[in-house]
Amino acid sequence: MWLRTLCFVFTVCFVMSCHRASGEVCPSKDIRNNVTNLRTLENCTVIEGHLKILLMFRTKPEDFRGISFPKLTVVTDYLLLFRVYGMETLSDLFPNLTVIRGNNLFFNYALVMFEMLQLREIGLHSLMNITRGAVRIEKNPDLCYLSTLDWSKILDTVEDNYIMANKNDRECGDVCPGAAIGKTTCQTTTINGHFSERCWTQKNCQRMCPMHCKHRACTKDDLCCHDQCLGGCLKPHSADHCVACRGLQHEDKCVDRCPENHFTYRGWRCVSFGFCQDLHNRCKREKERSKSADCHEYVIHNGACIHECPSGYTTVNSSS
Ligand SMILES: *[C@@H]1O[C@H](CO)[C@@H](O)[C@H](O)[C@H]1NC(C)=O
Ligand SMILES: *[C@@H]1O[C@H](CO)[C@@H](O)[C@H](O)[C@H]1NC(C)=O
Ligand SMILES: *[C@@H]1O[C@H](CO)[C@@H](O)[C@H](O)[C@H]1NC(C)=O
Ligand SMILES: *[C@@H]1O[C@H](CO)[C@@H](O)[C@H](O)[C@H]1NC(C)=O
Repeated sequence: MWLRTLCFVFTVCFVMSCHRASGEVCPSKDIRNNVTNLRTLENCTVIEGHLKILLMFRTKPEDFRGISFPKLTVVTDYLLLFRVYGMETLSDLFPNLTVIRGNNLFFNYALVMFEMLQLREIGLHSLMNITRGAVRIEKNPDLCYLSTLDWSKILDTVEDNYIMANKNDRECGDVCPGAAIGKTTCQTTTINGHFSERCWTQKNCQRMCPMHCKHRACTKDDLCCHDQCLGGCLKPHSADHCVACRGLQHEDKCVDRCPENHFTYRGWRCVSFGFCQDLHNRCKREKERSKSADCHEYVIHNGACIHECPSGYTTVNSSS
């Protein structure tokens, strides 16, 4: 197990020293037992892999107060929450989580919330796009603010969502922002003939971009982003200021394919030949040291840096 971690640590170190100063790409996280363990998320802007938070049986609502990871914007695989006692909302924990890519799924799901006994609302008010995979929200007996969400604005195929055995909608009495002063402030959409305001919490509307942006993302002020942005952007019409990328990320820019001498890595970013070679060599050394090393000797194939040669191909050493 620690060897696997080591392998990940290499990746992270490389990223920290050679890439963006603005944030850190973190490996998959499997966080359990207590709130202290959440701290490993503090510098992550992207989780390259999945994020599981689970099996915290002694935590109470006050343990989560004031804990926030505003840097986290993208999870490239899936987000799973299971039996985290005392967690009432994710609205403060992940206020800027914008995209879950679903490159690898948990069964067919990119977002799973299961047996979260005290969860009252999802609260992921920045979540704009689940690129692949469906949503499973089940057996959360206190969970409301579900009928106030329009998942079709977040994912393309809502038919595969499984949202079951949560708090009875009629016992919820969900109110969107503005309701207290008798004003609708959130956008309204129709689902199965039900016309309703869309919000994540009493304080947060579900954000939707103006019609004229079509499929493009938008800024907080509803200006349309560059076509390559996903989920939002800090400046309109610029591929350098996207919150996340529709296609691939190269350095701090969104691109639809990697530039020359760069390779697609884990379905969301471009890496150099040297990066891929480094992963390969480090893992090779690990394996020489220990047969049980759990890492991948990455190789370059068809413009991508992938974790093993596809069948029918053999590894050929190369340097350039
Ligand atoms: C939290 O759990 C970790 C192990 O998972 C343990 O080392 C640490 O002492 C625990 N912290 C608290 C405050 O209980
Ligand atoms: C986050 O970054 C700070 C400052 O660079 C560093 O001190 C801290 O150890 C980092 N935390 C983690 C979990 O990597
Ligand atoms: C979300 O991210 C932006 C910039 O990326 C930052 O300015 C803002 O403080 C974050 N939001 C929250 C609620 O922390
Ligand atoms: C989410 O993003 C993907 C990738 O850009 C896009 O194909 C899809 O239509 C988006 N889904 C929604 C509901 O906006």
